[in-house]
Amino acid sequence: MKWTASKLRALKGEKKIAMLTAYDALTGSLVDEADVPAVLVGDSLGMTVLGYETTLPVSMEEMLHHTAAVSRGVENALVIADMPFMSYQPSIEMGLENAGRFIKEAGADAVKVEGGAVRSGLIEALVSNGIPVLGHIGLTPQSIKETGGYKVQGKTSEQARRLMDDAMAVEQAGAFALVLECVPAELGELISGALSIPTIGIGAGAGCDGQVLVFTDLLGVSGKHVPKFVKKYANLNPLITEALAAYKAEVESGAFPADEQTY
Ligand code: KIV
Ligand code: NA
Repeated sequence: MKWTASKLRALKGEKKIAMLTAYDALTGSLVDEADVPAVLVGDSLGMTVLGYETTLPVSMEEMLHHTAAVSRGVENALVIADMPFMSYQPSIEMGLENAGRFIKEAGADAVKVEGGAVRSGLIEALVSNGIPVLGHIGLTPQSIKETGGYKVQGKTSEQARRLMDDAMAVEQAGAFALVLECVPAELGELISGALSIPTIGIGAGAGCDGQVLVFTDLLGVSGKHVPKFVKKYANLNPLITEALAAYKAEVESGAFPADEQTY
């Protein structure tokens, strides 16, 4: 069954929602084969596969290239394209045009934009023009220069109130779900209870309606430090390094290829 934004939204209160990032046809098909209903082509790909320090340099062309690859690898999951920094912030028109490119050129089913009340107009414009939107508040990595670091958000009661207002604004504007990143569990639960759309938490506690993790973090592929909110369901990095080293050693010793690999 092909997932749609409205089917995903309808899971609220019925079943917790698992979401994962994917970056190409290979990772997209792996997530899809695990029956995960929603795949986010996160701009985290800037760090996880493109070697940038932050998500800020990621371009529309890069996101389109990767989103198209994920779409080719996915059959059933909802494919959500993360709109990169400065592809929607300058104006609603620009955001609408760029979101349209993800749908028309890259096979995406929906887009994600960072920001709360400030994004109301854009979200309304996208939804009313047929483009489903996933919101994203709390820690928003595209604002890292202004916020000053990857820190837990909404710790003071004033910040918490503002995040609640932002969550309400995103729902009001017509988003089908909302990512809550790095907020105290208590606030995650409070926002989840107040909204009629599902919340998808990442470092936002067990009270959210769903969870999202970064593909490479979950599998322990990169060997890099991961945040506290990550659970490594596998630690593939040493296995991969071992396999590659064994290959190199056997090429050098002449043990590979053996008779079995020879015509
Ligand atoms: O880019 C990304 O992977 C994300 C998720 C972590 C929510 O925005
Ligand atoms: Na992102």
